[in-house]
Amino acid sequence: MTRTSLTIPTKVTNRMTKADIRQFAETKLRPDRSGGSFKALKGRTMVEQTKYEKLFSTPLVRFRVPDHEVLNDALMNEGRRLHAEDEGASKSNRGGWHSSGNLFDHQTDCIQALRSAAEDSVIGATRKVTTKVDPKNLGLKLFGWMNSNPPGGFNAPHTHPGAHWSGVYYVSQPDVETGTSGMIEFLDPRTDLPHWRLLKAPAFSMKKKIRPAAGEMILFPSYLVHWVYPNEADEERVSIAFNATFKKRKKT
Ligand SMILES: [Fe+2]
Repeated sequence: MTRTSLTIPTKVTNRMTKADIRQFAETKLRPDRSGGSFKALKGRTMVEQTKYEKLFSTPLVRFRVPDHEVLNDALMNEGRRLHAEDEGASKSNRGGWHSSGNLFDHQTDCIQALRSAAEDSVIGATRKVTTKVDPKNLGLKLFGWMNSNPPGGFNAPHTHPGAHWSGVYYVSQPDVETGTSGMIEFLDPRTDLPHWRLLKAPAFSMKKKIRPAAGEMILFPSYLVHWVYPNEADEERVSIAFNATFKKRKKT
């Protein structure tokens, strides 16, 4: 005879068979699913970790251009030349100059050299985050601009909507080791995190600031809110920023 839940005994009696008593014990030791408590278990319940995954991480990838001094000198001169003939655009720049149009449309050697370095960085960063697509098989659009921040200049918090990667190449950085001049800060895009601060876990910190050196190229997803600290040094700070957007190549 098949037992149903109605025949499960609720207490031990003299008339119970061994099978009944075994079932009674099993039932009593099983978690009470209606109330969610272990009525008959005492003490601590052990667990075994079966998996540890990091979900929804945000990559920050850093590169450097070897022997960048010659390139940076040429970019500084090109920047001065462009600045003299271009009033600039008003974007996130506060007190600084932001070149107009796509910087990579200029065919000067130094701009095209930087364009190729930016492209290599984008390909390298993309290969860090996926092995399922070869970025070389996609179309890639780069749109760049130059930032020149004099003393006091900074960039307000912003994102670069619509692109995949955003990047910054550092042409000239203030020669400081303390303070915040030349620092870029990223803000955690996740919401509902303030109560995690209690744990001081790096994975849940709300901000991350870095001071890349001249010759460094950094890449991050364009949705990441970032801003640049005011330049407190005496010399101007020059960087070239860009957006990188992949497109599916049309079949021919
Ligand atoms: Fe930016």
